[in-house]
Amino acid sequence: MTWNLASIDDAELASLAREWIFPADSIYLNHGSFGPPPREVRIARRDWIDRLDDQPMQFYVRDLEPAWLAARRRLAEFVNAREQDLAFVENATYGMNVVAESVRLQAGDEVLLNAQEYGAVRRIWERACARCGARIVDAPFELPVRSHDAIADAILDRITSRTRLIIVSHITSAGAVTMPVERIVAEAHARGVAVCIDGPHAIAQLPVDLESLAADYYVASLHKWLSAPLGSGFVHVREEHRASVRPPLLSWGRLLPALPERWDEQFRWTGTRDPSPYLTVPTAIGFLERFGLERFRDVTFEMARRVRRELESLLGQPAIVPDDRAYYGCMTEVLLPEGDWSGLQDRLRREEGIEVPIVRLDERWAVRVSCHLYVRRAHIDRLMQGLERLVVRAATGRA
Ligand SMILES: Cc1ncc(COP(=O)(O)O)c(C=O)c1O
Repeated sequence: MTWNLASIDDAELASLAREWIFPADSIYLNHGSFGPPPREVRIARRDWIDRLDDQPMQFYVRDLEPAWLAARRRLAEFVNAREQDLAFVENATYGMNVVAESVRLQAGDEVLLNAQEYGAVRRIWERACARCGARIVDAPFELPVRSHDAIADAILDRITSRTRLIIVSHITSAGAVTMPVERIVAEAHARGVAVCIDGPHAIAQLPVDLESLAADYYVASLHKWLSAPLGSGFVHVREEHRASVRPPLLSWGRLLPALPERWDEQFRWTGTRDPSPYLTVPTAIGFLERFGLERFRDVTFEMARRVRRELESLLGQPAIVPDDRAYYGCMTEVLLPEGDWSGLQDRLRREEGIEVPIVRLDERWAVRVSCHLYVRRAHIDRLMQGLERLVVRAATGRA
């Protein structure tokens, strides 16, 4: 019942797991959807909320803007960006709406997505296209993934003279596939096409370097792998697009009597609200940096790889991506046997106390397991037992 990993010993893992507080009846294997913050981050956020509630005038009028700028500076270092290219927003969804408001599409323009893009992102672009007679073009996406080149070729081959923008996840949601974004950005730019990266799963899971990547827009949530408070994210806009940025939710932009002059200032005052998630981002970065970012990635990848091999052997089905660190990090996903597994997620929760997403991929179903530092070997054993009972025995008629 121990991990026996090469990158960390079990005693250290057990003490780290105590940083997260879960209800006793819950095995949480879905950090990829909603990443609960560790204790230290929860405390820091509560401190910000107390400061706000204690004296709102002091907080909003005098403390907020310097604290917002300091938090952004820390985030900029973390993702290697220039501060002035970054603004906090609540989540990747909000960030994508900023981009959809800001890119001025015209009738006949094409926005290039692929079959694995996040459903809400697709809805955002469907509405933006419908408003002006533009259209979405979908690149095909073969699963299981053969190679990064096959993915990049499929997307880049769909560029036409009408393509205005490519939307691509850094790591996809439904398949947990690390995408070849560097090649896509470089080749799209060579052909004069802008790229927006949808990056909520990449922050902390991968070393993200926004300056080198040079995407036109990058949006992310910080409440996934970074484990910052729920409701923290950012939008990153390259200099040449700043003049056209329009916030989807208009407010003063800055606290009066100041008014916004630069694009990012539009996002500092978005109405009276609780900005504590943004201000706590430096604490979340500090938590992972103290453990060591590379070490975090090594440990969680080692866990994910173990889980992947055990799932493949239990289910007799392949994982979605090649067994190579270029294709996956802390999340692993393996196909389920053919059949309708629409009720499985609910049964695993009700009967085994396990929160794990069972996702639909084209005609198939798959199980996606998130490995963060608090995931214990015993949790994975329980998952394997649950899948053995609910999937393997059911598929072989031994239920
Ligand atoms: C690829 C991708 N894009 C966008 C989102 C939306 O993130 P949020 O709900 O934090 O805005 C998600 C959430 O899982 C996602 O996986």
